[in-house]
Amino acid sequence: MRIAVAITGASGAMYGIRTLEILRDLPDVETHLVVSRSAVLTLRQKCGLGLPEVHDLADVVYKPSEVGATIASGSFHLDAMLVAPCSIKTLSAIAHCHTDDLISRAADVCLKEGRPLVLLVRETPLHVGHLRIMTAAAESGAIIAPPVPAMYALPQSVDDIVDYTVRRTLSRIGVEAATPAEWSGLSAIRSAVSE
Ligand SMILES: Cc1cc2nc3c(=O)[nH]c(=O)nc-3n(C[C@H](O)[C@H](O)[C@H](O)COP(=O)(O)O)c2cc1C
Repeated sequence: MRIAVAITGASGAMYGIRTLEILRDLPDVETHLVVSRSAVLTLRQKCGLGLPEVHDLADVVYKPSEVGATIASGSFHLDAMLVAPCSIKTLSAIAHCHTDDLISRAADVCLKEGRPLVLLVRETPLHVGHLRIMTAAAESGAIIAPPVPAMYALPQSVDDIVDYTVRRTLSRIGVEAATPAEWSGLSAIRSAVSE
């Protein structure tokens, strides 16, 4: 599979890092990475990582200004793209087809080619303008997947929370090898309640 990963300047750069780490360990997956200029700040602040270390996690890397890169064209086959995390600014660019950098352009290409595009939109609280552009992006075919912690998975650490969200997201685009353990139901609790 060929998967594009974009990391933008929303809080939660670790979602992009974990995505790259998981994909790096899978055979037959080629990753194409774009890190926005703001994400360079958040990667440093939240993960203590510099750009070269992040670039090392991907097979192919591009600058956001490279609007002539391979992934900017529909003729270059990508299986899917993830924006993890996705800022409101990049969400807005995608929702409005304002493709003035490689992240918004590659995302727009995914939508026009009918390829999965997952946006881990990170902001809270959300005003109605945010909700409207999420709807607009979803209407164009984007999968809106805010990184909301899955407490039912009983995470023991922040790493558990991030890992579970990333695996569910990758599963959503067909990377079966990354799928987390299935939910086994509430039967034990149900019988405790009925006693
Ligand atoms: C430390 C830090 C945290 C931020 N967190 C968020 C956030 O959670 N969500 C968001 O939409 N923007 C957030 N921003 C603002 C974005 O980085 C800013 O809007 C930027 O222009 C986004 O550009 P990009 O989408 O090209 O990365 C944050 C900025 C900084 C410096």
